[in-house]
Amino acid sequence: MLTTVGIIVGSLRRDSYTRKVATAFAALLPEHVTVKWLQIADLPLYNEDLETTPPPEAWTVLRRAAADCDGVLFFTPEYNRSVPAALKNALDVGSRPYGENVWAHKPALVVSVSPGAIGGFGANHHLRQSLTFLDMPTLQQPEAYIGNVTKLMDGTDQFVPATSDYFKQILSQYLSFAAKLS
Ligand SMILES: Cc1cc2nc3c(=O)[nH]c(=O)nc-3n(C[C@H](O)[C@H](O)[C@H](O)COP(=O)(O)O)c2cc1C
Repeated sequence: MLTTVGIIVGSLRRDSYTRKVATAFAALLPEHVTVKWLQIADLPLYNEDLETTPPPEAWTVLRRAAADCDGVLFFTPEYNRSVPAALKNALDVGSRPYGENVWAHKPALVVSVSPGAIGGFGANHHLRQSLTFLDMPTLQQPEAYIGNVTKLMDGTDQFVPATSDYFKQILSQYLSFAAKLS
């Protein structure tokens, strides 16, 4: 059973819709699950020349925080049909040094978010490609493409009940998937 779940939000924007979706999912997690928000905004761009002893402090913070998680929920916007560079950078940082990939074997959930109708399909699948190589078992169904996101919220940034119910279904499938793996 999962006790600590990491959440990564691919958008760095203050009023990010993706972050609002992530926050709604976090609120739906069972009480026994601790949430760790994995911070990616201040990570120096991955560069093997910086892989010294010690490496950049922000890299160590992310690596330790991710290592403490039993599973990871990824929430990503779509940038040019892929994931934002900040998110890819965080994956790269956690994957190294060679042989010390902190993501390995942690069950993952991928949720893509967009104001557009396609729901970040391109980002969702680019992210899945990296997670396959990083050895993260990833929930296959239901797929989570949250399109037209601005139309799913009421005026107070809360998601309408039908959308919250959909989020609950996705989360429940993820938690059962993760429990089967443990
Ligand atoms: C550099 C850039 C590229 C974008 N490319 C796409 C795209 O490929 N598909 C899409 O649906 N939206 C795209 N958008 C629009 C984003 O979906 C929109 O800005 C969204 O609000 C970003 O997510 P956030 O609200 O969580 O920051 C792009 C936005 C930016 C800044």
